[in-house]
Amino acid sequence: MRKAAALAAAAVVAAAAAIAVRQRLREAKRWARVAAVLSDLQERCAAPAARLLQVSDAMDVEMRAGLASEDGSKLKMLVTYVDSLPSGDEKGLFYALDLGGTNFRVLRVQLGGKEQRVIKQESVGELFDFIAAALAKFVASEGEDYHLPEGTLRQLGFTFSFPVKQTSISSGTLIKWTKGFAIEEMVGKDIVAELNEAIKRQGLVMKVSTLVNDTVGTLAAGRYVDDDTMIAVILGTGTNAAYTENAHAIPKWHAPLPMSGDMVINMEWGNFKSAHLPLTEFDQALDAESLNPGEQNYEKLTSGMYMGEIVRRILLQMAQEAALFGDNIPPKLETPYILKTFHMLVMHHDVSPDLETVGIKLKEIFQIESTSRKTRKLVVDVCEVISTRGARLAAAGIHGILKKLGRATDSPDKRRTVIAVDGGVYKYYTFFSECMERTLSDMLGEDLAPSVVIKPANDGSGLGAALLAASYSQYLQADEDY
Ligand code: BGC
Repeated sequence: MRKAAALAAAAVVAAAAAIAVRQRLREAKRWARVAAVLSDLQERCAAPAARLLQVSDAMDVEMRAGLASEDGSKLKMLVTYVDSLPSGDEKGLFYALDLGGTNFRVLRVQLGGKEQRVIKQESVGELFDFIAAALAKFVASEGEDYHLPEGTLRQLGFTFSFPVKQTSISSGTLIKWTKGFAIEEMVGKDIVAELNEAIKRQGLVMKVSTLVNDTVGTLAAGRYVDDDTMIAVILGTGTNAAYTENAHAIPKWHAPLPMSGDMVINMEWGNFKSAHLPLTEFDQALDAESLNPGEQNYEKLTSGMYMGEIVRRILLQMAQEAALFGDNIPPKLETPYILKTFHMLVMHHDVSPDLETVGIKLKEIFQIESTSRKTRKLVVDVCEVISTRGARLAAAGIHGILKKLGRATDSPDKRRTVIAVDGGVYKYYTFFSECMERTLSDMLGEDLAPSVVIKPANDGSGLGAALLAASYSQYLQADEDY
């Protein structure tokens, strides 16, 4: 009897051991699959030095093609009619309206010339629909520190961060929306005329005097504080760059040459495309299912609107193929755009030994109750692959512009070049910005790298628009031109 009981007990132990072994095997298989997906991803997202140089060359080539003719390239290379940048001498009261991807700002600045610079600046945030109403309220709240002679028309610098084909410094039509905006009836319309009408309806004595892209505003704000600022880059919800070009080098420019000989070009580099860009099936699927398939390819690799979404797609595949988050797929993981790049950077920056923040975020965003450290580490690894690729490609883009400007190869005079950079990804995703700066410096080499300076622009696009409104100011009497 005792023997039978012992035998039965042994059988139970053996069965339990077999289950444990099977479970361990299953676990090992699962992780082997996850590791395979990760290493495959790392391989296909890799942007080694040689490839970055190809991307930089392609950027240079496309820039030239875009400058040569209207539809010569995926890069629009839009002429901005900004042929002089602020000098610091600007004086007076100017308003600005800054409509971007995430932010909407209205501001006014009192400029005091070289000595005093920006004497005072204020801003408010409102919604697009209430632009004119917000402006009216804002103007009504003008305090004593802002001075404008009675009856003077208020001038407004307008930063509109979308591709606009400009017809002058203060007019232009919307080519297309980006960053998920989709008010179709606005496409092809003169943005400034629309806004001026809305302002008039509010009874405001105010007029848009300059229309600029956020990169152009950022370039203006950068130049205002540093004469060597030649390039501006936005790495935020969307991405783009602007730089000063020699007007002689713009074959498609047929109007009289500007006095300064220079013209700011809004590259719209988000639409850059090249066979050298390291793309995966995740990027292809994201593009195909986006609001603008086939467009903004470079933006879809490097900007805040998309990087988090790429990470989500990868995690979803790992969950489907290797039960990364257990036997059931967490339903929220299937929701497009639920993972913001801001969440991604918070997880990526988690330095706690246990990756606690990653666990909290996974719970908050995807309602994944509990995760092992190994799983959390894997999530961080995926964030790292995608942000490294984006940052390295952004560096290659900047290198391409330097190349176009003849500043990517060492020369005896070693001219200093400042690049003003702004946008949430650049500002808050320090892993990304550090990686980008390191990559650019590696690409330039140790002799040249010290003469290329990247400077944070600190929300300069609105201020830049006000500065440009000032540089192009005519201070009309309200009844003369209104
Ligand atoms: C827009 C650009 C803008 C950039 C950064 C892109 O999606 O097309 O005009 O400069 O985002 O805001």
